Amino acid sequence: MQPRNTLLRCAIYSTVIISVSAQSPQELINSVLNPALVSEHYSSYSSEIYFNHTLYNQTPVASTNYDKLEASAKLLLTPAGYNYAAGGAGLETTVAANREAFDHWHILPRVMRSVLPSRDISTVLFNRTLPAPIVMAPVGVQTLFHSSGERATSKVFGELGLPYTLITASSTGFAGVAASNGAGNPRWYQLYWPDDDDLTRSYLQTAKANGYVVLVVTVDTWDLGWRTRDLDRGFFPFLWGVGVQIGLEDPVAHQKLGFDALAANATAEQKQNAALYHTITTLRGVSPVWENLWRLREVWGDARILLKGVQSAEDAKEALKWGLDGVILSNHGGRQIDGAIGSLDALPAIVQAVKGKLVIGFDSGIRSGIDFFKALALGADFVQLGRPILWGLAHEGEKGIRHVLKSLLAEFEITVGLAGCASLKDVNETLLVENRR
Ligand SMILES: Cc1cc2nc3c(=O)[nH]c(=O)nc-3n(C[C@H](O)[C@H](O)[C@H](O)COP(=O)(O)O)c2cc1C
Repeated sequence: MQPRNTLLRCAIYSTVIISVSAQSPQELINSVLNPALVSEHYSSYSSEIYFNHTLYNQTPVASTNYDKLEASAKLLLTPAGYNYAAGGAGLETTVAANREAFDHWHILPRVMRSVLPSRDISTVLFNRTLPAPIVMAPVGVQTLFHSSGERATSKVFGELGLPYTLITASSTGFAGVAASNGAGNPRWYQLYWPDDDDLTRSYLQTAKANGYVVLVVTVDTWDLGWRTRDLDRGFFPFLWGVGVQIGLEDPVAHQKLGFDALAANATAEQKQNAALYHTITTLRGVSPVWENLWRLREVWGDARILLKGVQSAEDAKEALKWGLDGVILSNHGGRQIDGAIGSLDALPAIVQAVKGKLVIGFDSGIRSGIDFFKALALGADFVQLGRPILWGLAHEGEKGIRHVLKSLLAEFEITVGLAGCASLKDVNETLLVENRR
């Protein structure tokens, strides 16, 4: 497609030169028009959007505003699928509290500091340099939101070099996600801890064999919260055989069941039984306990283990005592206990208890680059993205995910700079003001 107007193009070039570092004019122009996908200049995504519209009359696949993004995703999804993702437990007061917690903090920017276009938002996590402290939250049954599901999300996180977490409730198996994520990219595995040690061992071994290097053990969802939107529809996708692929592919599950539900001659009844078996063994209604953690270490060895779903500083201290590598502060996006504390409100106490001794991840309520800034300034080492990525996925699969992820990273990088920070190291609590009216 041809640009509409050469003069206009020149005018735009000159406005964006300020956003790139010193090179020859042509190099500057090229770096803005064709930025590397894994780029320190995430903020150049705004230039890309302006160019594409001005020169080619193209607009992004979805809004850059979270509320509008969710609203258009809702129109693209089935009511059951939309409500499965949007809903929380009970009256959904914790879903709301997760957002309100972000409103308790305001940014107090600093000015006249030396900040260059290339702000360093990279971080080192578990001895690996990441381009940004952003991780895909474990989110189940992604084919509910687009047929490309986990293949698309893992592909885009791989492209950007950001960690991707595969879930036990996945609609794509270990090898499938590893292939779409790409060789050498940081892959994590989230375990819903089965009550059967043979199955647990088998899942962990398969994860290791497929290059998943960090184990995330979700400890707040050993039983399902009272999810009113799903209950009112009787909607539980696992019983339909969606989100059970890890179990369906597992060789130990085949032995225990006495059949392979993915075999060409498997009956519909066998498929349903295998789906039920996976669901029951992973969402078992029996809580995991500290004393059994050694069973995971036995298989996972010295590789990193994080506990996801920790909200109390006392539990964070326990995690330290039991030799975990980190905790992920999360209330599962308000899907488990209605009335639980807003996730960001729980962060300062956890930071005070274990910062520097355990890696601290954070999720539940992140909707923007501003939210990244607040959580990281309060002491989180990384933040996880859940619902925003699902709404992106609903918009043409990987195209929508790429747009959402690039938008959030751009907003974050812009905010880091505008707050007076040259790098992530400068992002700290002195740039926040608490505001509880
Ligand atoms: C549709 C959906 C499915 C989820 N599935 C899982 C899962 O299988 N395992 C898990 O540990 N967390 C799961 N979560 C929780 C996310 O990892 C994360 O904690 C949550 O999305 C954070 O809330 P937010 O998206 O509102 O920021 C799920 C969340 C959603 C919305």
